[in-house]
Amino acid sequence: MSKTPKFNTVSGAYIYSLAILRLYDWWVLTISNRFAWQCPTKSVLLPFFQKYLRRSHLDIGVGTGYYLARSALPHDQEITLLDLNGNSLKMARDRISSLNPCLVREDILNPGNQLEGRMFDSISLFYLLHCLPGAMSEKMKATLDFLLHHLAPNGVIYGATILGEETNHNWLGSRLIGLYNKKGIFDNRHDSRVDLEAALRDRFLEVEVQVHGKVALFSARMPKRMFGT
Ligand SMILES: C[S@@+](CC[C@H](N)C(=O)[O-])C[C@H]1O[C@@H](n2cnc3c(N)ncnc32)[C@H](O)[C@@H]1O
Repeated sequence: MSKTPKFNTVSGAYIYSLAILRLYDWWVLTISNRFAWQCPTKSVLLPFFQKYLRRSHLDIGVGTGYYLARSALPHDQEITLLDLNGNSLKMARDRISSLNPCLVREDILNPGNQLEGRMFDSISLFYLLHCLPGAMSEKMKATLDFLLHHLAPNGVIYGATILGEETNHNWLGSRLIGLYNKKGIFDNRHDSRVDLEAALRDRFLEVEVQVHGKVALFSARMPKRMFGT
């Protein structure tokens, strides 16, 4: 008998058809990041992505694979792409095909065992959390409790997520937040920096969270359960 999923994650992933993904870099990474979320891709998000990237890397919620495609990666770089949506996996894989990435079609909130026994030096979650359903504490618990099994002892989990209504979105941002939450593409109305940081501090000794525009950029290292507190 199949397990009933704890979270309904379909809405946050189904939208990414190949047609939508062809527009994604322009609409999200160029227009929305600049004018709605006020967190530019090239000068803020891309350098942040590259800063923590290690040799064995797991990217979750891959979209079009933009960040990996724009990074100068060594030939021995090991990349695993995990996404619920097969179109995202295909587009991202095609963009970094020379690295021969490993593809995992998996729901991060209702994970199976495809990563069984695998450990990563770095794990990125860029613009994933705001797509996941549930309160920040719930979605972080499910995500981190799973990922902690796959983070190498000196590894880092990092990412970026668009915050909810607490950040006083501008006219365009408010309209997009309203529309995307109504359609279920986002579930982030109540996502706050405080709840994000609390979820990370519950599980890690070293945590950094900074807000740029309407986006929280975070990194976490040294899981408490490995480093004994
Ligand atoms: C907004 S895109 C982010 C793309 C890219 N990381 C970026 O920052 O531009 C969200 C991605 O997360 C994936 N996704 C949404 N819900 C998911 C889930 N429950 N499990 C795994 N992937 C999911 C979507 O299919 C999509 O590829």
